Amino acid sequence: MDYAKRLERVSVLGAAGKMGSGIVLLTALEMADLSLDPAHRGLEFVLNAVDVSSKALGGLMKYLHAQVLRAAEKKAVTLRKVYEKREDLVENEEIIRQYVDDVLAIVRPTTRLESATDSRLVFEAVNEDPALKVKLFGAINTQGPGDTWFLTNTSSIPIHELNEKAGLGGRLMGVHFYNPPAVQKLVELIPADTTLPELAEFCREFAKKLRKTVVPSHDVAGFIGNGHFMRDALHGLAEAERLAKEYGFTDAVYMVNKVTQDFLIRPMGIFQLIDYVGLDVCRFILGVMNDRLPGRHLHSPRLEALIAKGILGGQFADGSQKDGFLKYEKGRPAGVYDPDKGAYAPIAELAARCDPRLGAPPKAWKPWKAVIGDAQRSEYLDGYFRELRGAATTGAKLARAYGRRSKEIGLGLVTDKVAAREDDVNTVLLTGFYHAYGPINAYFD
Ligand code: CAA
Repeated sequence: MDYAKRLERVSVLGAAGKMGSGIVLLTALEMADLSLDPAHRGLEFVLNAVDVSSKALGGLMKYLHAQVLRAAEKKAVTLRKVYEKREDLVENEEIIRQYVDDVLAIVRPTTRLESATDSRLVFEAVNEDPALKVKLFGAINTQGPGDTWFLTNTSSIPIHELNEKAGLGGRLMGVHFYNPPAVQKLVELIPADTTLPELAEFCREFAKKLRKTVVPSHDVAGFIGNGHFMRDALHGLAEAERLAKEYGFTDAVYMVNKVTQDFLIRPMGIFQLIDYVGLDVCRFILGVMNDRLPGRHLHSPRLEALIAKGILGGQFADGSQKDGFLKYEKGRPAGVYDPDKGAYAPIAELAARCDPRLGAPPKAWKPWKAVIGDAQRSEYLDGYFRELRGAATTGAKLARAYGRRSKEIGLGLVTDKVAAREDDVNTVLLTGFYHAYGPINAYFD
């Protein structure tokens, strides 16, 4: 079966979740482009967007409409060529509207899992729960024709384990997108030992057509991305606990978050990133890794305690950020959670107390957005980190220690043979987490 035929009938499970909705968007755009190619006349492209929540599916369709419209506006010139035979489409607006209609017509939102049984490709993006994934794969596999290919967006569960437990006979591949899938360039590809070579080849082609950067990861719990992120997050949590003894918990969280965002020039501080991914999702991933990597102690009592209080982070259906370690107003951090008081300490008060303690970042400092857009980024970073290495402020010392640990984690992933090369670790952080530089660098020794 060729590439287009395989993509003619697709289902995405967990379609209305934050990863699922991005996967539906990207897949629907690719399917629409195939359907508009005269070479595929006669094929009827259908994408079942399967989710347990019909309300969330309503939100998915709104998200898709807005995003497809943006995509159409960006490629209006190409679309004019695609629709050149349609004499009824003259104005740009008509062409754009037609494309949006064509993409959305492919997507069929449904709460019925049975819709997936006649799909040739099933993309799973449900919760990070091994038993749930195995149950869904097993149900579709036994009711379907027996030659369905399965992709999983699992961010930590070994693919060979899911393949064996669901009895898929090598028809499963790990295809791990990063949040938000529409923005992050990375797709981590994880074949199990038994994954069919033609399925692995299809996934490479699919990722390439989506214009993603592909990094292969070995089939080890957490893969490269979470292998790094989870250890980085645990380090951030440990640093905060250490600083809390001297400054108190809210000050410590503020300081570590500020150092990891500003001093290290990252898009988000580590606590904001944990909130963005979701404390409960991080706990799920850590649980999967901890069970499968004995002796690594990948867990956090602080995370457990906050989750027990209902502090979860993650996003609302409209994409806005829920409170977690930090409180958010208009998407920006506005407070830090104080577990003793059960309330958020205002960020302005924390800044007034903690910023002088940390000291100013190096003079060359620029925000992350300016750095990623800098045509001379590498020269800029050389100069910035030279200054950071020579600085004696508490902020600079914390940043250096953090950068060293981040590098050590990256090198460990190569030593442990999760990543084949140092470059792969760096590419994952650059393209999956939008970092301005890779963790394995000459800035920290
Ligand atoms: N869907 C589509 N587009 C989105 C989007 C979404 N859900 N969220 C943001 N965007 C777009 C915005 O529309 C905007 O587009 P334009 O530039 O064309 O206007 C662009 O992304 C930038 O967004 P903002 O201007 O709102 O905000 P920002 O500049 O701060 O960037 C961010 C937001 C891209 C999320 C950036 O902060 C970032 O990359 N943060 C790090 C996120 C990260 O580390 N992700 C990986 C998490 S780990 C993971 O996913 C794996 C796992 O298994 C846990």
